[in-house]
Amino acid sequence: MSSPEAQAYRLLTEYTNGFMVSQVLFAACELGLFDLLSEAPEPLGSAAVAARLGTSSHGTRLLLDTCVSLKLLQLESRGGQASYRNTELSGTYLVRASPKCQVNMLAYLARTTYRCWGHLAQAVRDGKNQYQEAFGVASDELFTAIYRSDGERVQFMRGLQDVWSVSGRPVLTAFDLSPFRLICDVGGCSGALAKQCAALYPGCRVTVCDTPDVVRTAKEHFGSREEEEEEEERIGFWEGDFFKDPLPEADLYILARVLHDWSDERCSHLLTCIHGACRPGGGVLVIESLLDADGRGPLTTQLYSLNMLVQTEGRERTPAQYAALLAPAGFRDARCRRTGGLYDAILARK
Ligand SMILES: C[S@@+](CC[C@H](N)C(=O)[O-])C[C@H]1O[C@@H](n2cnc3c(N)ncnc32)[C@H](O)[C@@H]1O
Repeated sequence: MSSPEAQAYRLLTEYTNGFMVSQVLFAACELGLFDLLSEAPEPLGSAAVAARLGTSSHGTRLLLDTCVSLKLLQLESRGGQASYRNTELSGTYLVRASPKCQVNMLAYLARTTYRCWGHLAQAVRDGKNQYQEAFGVASDELFTAIYRSDGERVQFMRGLQDVWSVSGRPVLTAFDLSPFRLICDVGGCSGALAKQCAALYPGCRVTVCDTPDVVRTAKEHFGSREEEEEEEERIGFWEGDFFKDPLPEADLYILARVLHDWSDERCSHLLTCIHGACRPGGGVLVIESLLDADGRGPLTTQLYSLNMLVQTEGRERTPAQYAALLAPAGFRDARCRRTGGLYDAILARK
């Protein structure tokens, strides 16, 4: 049995090395390791992996064995030769051909989010995001900084949609949305959640509301797959500034990971605009990672809230804090459903 002091030191080491674990994951994805192993007809040895990826034999061996310890790869021994194959985790979430692939989000975290987190102490001092420090871009207009180039916009949009292949159904079925025929996905980005909504509720039409550049990018880069053609016919786009331009009339407004970008004042303004456009008896569905009632957990949501500090103007909130924003805007009867996943849902009515 180790002493409390030794246990504490082990915990400290685990926290200290956390960033190295993220980097192993990011590097393996960037190199295409998991794609290679999923395409190979049988497990591959280290030399074969190095040859096909064009990487050094020394570095490849270290990376492969670390991935085994992280349960991202499984080691097999054949005739005394070590070979590697994907585990269920990497095969499901880290292979590009998998329908639940999260690799675009990992790439965004590796290239953009990681750099902002390098300035976390300064963000805590300043109480604001770190685009100026990390990328040399002003962030007076938040999404001008986030979308600072066409490439960055596409990367952000690709990254953000990954999670809905895992969490889309749970958040959209937390409440029965079938009574809502006309739905607006406000800040709907690439339209990934809108497509799932259209698939789950065949009686609805969904309008994706976003900025002109995002709508153009969604149309250019995020077309529907063949099996999604029926849903696509029930999806439309609205382009504008949701703080300034009147939103289309609808029965339900989805706000997925939108309110967490903004201060209470801007959220109140947006919710008041939505209330004005909402049909009588309609509602708003807020989809966010929710803090516990006392705000002291879960850790993942607390980390997301710090992420909002370094990357946005907002924060994650408790259900009561969302209810306190919804009520003055005219939305009543806010009900919260936890999904057990990363994102939860709150439905409130006009
Ligand atoms: C954090 S993203 C969430 C995207 C999507 N709902 C999701 O959860 O994947 C916020 C979205 O709000 C959009 N947005 C930000 N400011 C906007 C504005 N003033 N008018 C319209 N859309 C805006 C962004 O372009 C982006 O698509």
